[in-house]
Amino acid sequence: MTERTFSIIKPDATEKNLTGAVNAVIEAAGLRIVAQKRIKLSQAQAEKFYEIHKERPFFGELVEFMTRAPVVVQVLEGDNAVARYREVMGATNPAQAAEGTIRKLYADSVGENSVHGSDSLDNAKIEIAQFFTDDEIVG
Ligand code: CMP
Repeated sequence: MTERTFSIIKPDATEKNLTGAVNAVIEAAGLRIVAQKRIKLSQAQAEKFYEIHKERPFFGELVEFMTRAPVVVQVLEGDNAVARYREVMGATNPAQAAEGTIRKLYADSVGENSVHGSDSLDNAKIEIAQFFTDDEIVG
């Protein structure tokens, strides 16, 4: 089934000028980038986006990291896009990520792990709506 998922290319990757390299892996995997913009997350935006993690010990560090440098927010479209993108990203901890995945190729640590992808179709819809209006998504 054709789906849309939400992606963030995180500050560690944009700082290393890897936006194009990450996008090449996404596109080679058959996912289409149907919306994309480079933005600097505000503290409030990062806190809201990661609200479900607010009780975690790493929450402060996560918000600080995500606001440190620009990110690229994206909508990806394709067959089973939510699960497919999670495969393409690799495990949250790059040390456990499979060969050829974005995190294996480019990520430094579990905190600075280069990309975010939605974990379900419901969350994809919620996350996309936080950053894009319908007319900004051109499929
Ligand atoms: P993400 O998929 O964006 O969703 C939550 C993020 O929290 C996750 O990727 C990691 O970047 C971050 N995270 C998860 N576990 C840890 C950890 N133990 N220490 C720091 N950050 C973490």
